[in-house]
Amino acid sequence: MDMRQRIADLAGEMLRAAFPEAQGLPEDLAALLEVPPEQSMGDYAFPCFKLSKALRMGPPMIAQKLAAAVEKPEIARVECVGGYLNFFFNRENFARELMNAIMAAPEKWGSSQDGQGKTVCMDYSSINIAKRFHLGHLSTTVIGNSLKRIYDFQGWKTVSINHLGDWGTQFGKMICAYKKWGDKEAVEKGGVDEMTRLYVRFGQEAEKNPTLEDEGRAWFKKIEEGDKEALEIFQWFKEVTLKDAMKVYDVLDVHFDSYAGESFYADKTGRVVEELEQKGLLKDSDGAKIVDLEEYGMPPCLILKSDGATLYHTRDLAAAIYRKETYHFDQCLYIVAYQQDLHFKQLFKVLELMGYDWARDQCKHVAFGMVSYEGQAMATRKGHVVLLDELLTRAQEKALGIINEKSPNLENKEEVARQVGVGAVVYATLQNNRIKDIDFWWDRALNFDGETGPYVQYTFARCCSVLRKAPEITAAPDYASLTDDEAQALLRLLSRFPETVAEACLRNEPSIVTRATTEIAKAYNKYYYEHRILDDDAGATAARLELTRATRQVIKTGLYLIGLDAPERM
Ligand code: ARG
Repeated sequence: MDMRQRIADLAGEMLRAAFPEAQGLPEDLAALLEVPPEQSMGDYAFPCFKLSKALRMGPPMIAQKLAAAVEKPEIARVECVGGYLNFFFNRENFARELMNAIMAAPEKWGSSQDGQGKTVCMDYSSINIAKRFHLGHLSTTVIGNSLKRIYDFQGWKTVSINHLGDWGTQFGKMICAYKKWGDKEAVEKGGVDEMTRLYVRFGQEAEKNPTLEDEGRAWFKKIEEGDKEALEIFQWFKEVTLKDAMKVYDVLDVHFDSYAGESFYADKTGRVVEELEQKGLLKDSDGAKIVDLEEYGMPPCLILKSDGATLYHTRDLAAAIYRKETYHFDQCLYIVAYQQDLHFKQLFKVLELMGYDWARDQCKHVAFGMVSYEGQAMATRKGHVVLLDELLTRAQEKALGIINEKSPNLENKEEVARQVGVGAVVYATLQNNRIKDIDFWWDRALNFDGETGPYVQYTFARCCSVLRKAPEITAAPDYASLTDDEAQALLRLLSRFPETVAEACLRNEPSIVTRATTEIAKAYNKYYYEHRILDDDAGATAARLELTRATRQVIKTGLYLIGLDAPERM
């Protein structure tokens, strides 16, 4: 039931009928088709401009000739407007075919096998050990989670990787501080805050007593060398950090296939350095080793510090090669803020120079903008970092407040409050193109009437309620009752949902799904206000209930793909 393809095939047929001798016409007609900005202009428009050269004829003339050759039951009529040929579906036929196609496998509507046999690695969330999980890591976490769901739905094998920031001399310092002034219980209880306190204290004490720096470095060396005590403490710091992060991941329903972070590659960087050396790519620079990228208009990529320590880039090189060799990916996505744009450009370029051609078209930096909080930069709100767990807790409390007001008798209010509160935050993050900066406002995110997560969830609950109250269906659906403008507008959106998901996948852009799902919710509400679902006529009722059922499922799928739950009552 791919209407675009159907119309394209039809256009092809018409072309052959009208111009049997023609040569050199474009192959992929489906790609040429456009969706007219308004429904009154038709369901699809076929632009004739690109045919002009091959047919040696003006586009309006081509459109006229094609129009004369159409006669198909699924097309009510065509109109020539300028160089466009506008197709109008036969409304009843369209409703029948679409409903049949969706209802044959409702949960699968929008899925595809495009990714069959292909693997995508996705690096997202990638939090730093001993640091709080703050608003800055919200986008990467929810964009990554959504893309994982979208790729899965498109038939890809997905490997989600939390590339933990767990390597660097700061961990030596932290252990040193812990040994001197730390306390096991305090770290267990205070978690990351306590580790931060120790780290800050280390800095203060080191100013008075510079030999501390050496001690810190010595502890890091111990980690590198696999010293038992150092590793035990380091491992435990990681566990404590991850325990906190897990709470956030649980609330968001985010999962990873791998937590192989920077430390995982510590013993894999040697090979990279050797390879760079062998391939003549390494240069000395004040004792450090670099790859010169001047020729490509970029600053050098740092590989080894003068003391021989590896850098962020070195570990990312090792990680990319490891992922290729382990997962044989067809794509490797890095869902990381646009501030790291240069880092990834350098990374991909060095891989390419090493002869890894796949880096050029398989590795992608999926960048996104900054998040601010009620008009203030996210890192400092009254001097405090906006922490993700606190934000999500607030969201749930606020949602509970609204639910208490609107539906005081709702069962399992707490769970619905979680779904709606978290949904509001996630939706706000995935609402606009990812590269745009986001300013998060509570009132906007939690508005049940605007373009928000709660609004879409509410529409889903409305569909559920309509279906709960529906009488038993006694007649076959009469699709002639779905030919009004509102029903057709909704049907059009439902029919395009598969294209939408495919495009979101192709462009790594969850907001395409967010917007499409919102449009479907709006179209359903408009339909709901202007038409009676339960009609005196049993056939009309059956058709409208079926439309409701299809809408309910597609909204649920859309919400799922952006990482939201769909509560049946709210
Ligand atoms: N931990 C890094 C940060 O918080 C992000 C890591 C992204 N992934 C990568 N392979 N470099 O900024």
